[in-house]
Amino acid sequence: MKTAIIYMSKHGSTEKMVEMLKVRLINSDIDVINLKKQKSPDISKYENIIIGGSIHVGKIQNRITKLIEKNINILLNKKVALFLCCMYENEKRIEQFNNSFPENLRNHSSANGLFGGEFVFEKMNFLERAIVKKVSEYSCTVSKIDEKAIDEFVEKFQK
Ligand SMILES: Cc1cc2nc3c(=O)[nH]c(=O)nc-3n(C[C@H](O)[C@H](O)[C@H](O)COP(=O)(O)O)c2cc1C
Repeated sequence: MKTAIIYMSKHGSTEKMVEMLKVRLINSDIDVINLKKQKSPDISKYENIIIGGSIHVGKIQNRITKLIEKNINILLNKKVALFLCCMYENEKRIEQFNNSFPENLRNHSSANGLFGGEFVFEKMNFLERAIVKKVSEYSCTVSKIDEKAIDEFVEKFQK
């Protein structure tokens, strides 16, 4: 059974989560696909597909949206799981998750995960730093990756 983990990451947090997922999955036949390097991968050869991205100024990366739009019929016939990396909590992050993935895919998905996120000030440009300082309580690097959520996601997906 071939599995693909397809993702986008701006400052490396989602990429970190992908590694955390990979080591937890029992299946050893896993391809990790970074959409930054491979814009439009052929996903038809995979039985299991995990898709994840991060939120920047309210939106998931466009390449994730485009990949899903292009492959929606294929995805609805595979085992799929979806995750999001973001810093908002509670209701707001659920709203962001729902806006990031279409309803039919969310309902079809075996596991929907919210893994928290990080603010990595060293990797932000001037504008990003200004935005984060304005809209959040943080002004230096902080990690809020939720490993328990990742464990639960993997458990659900592998059931
Ligand atoms: C400029 C900027 C804007 C952000 N906007 C949001 C946002 O609207 N909502 C949110 O929940 N998190 C927001 N975040 C937090 C990111 O989702 C978080 O930093 C995440 O870990 C980034 O993952 P990545 O490095 O894989 O892209 C923002 C971060 C930055 C730097």
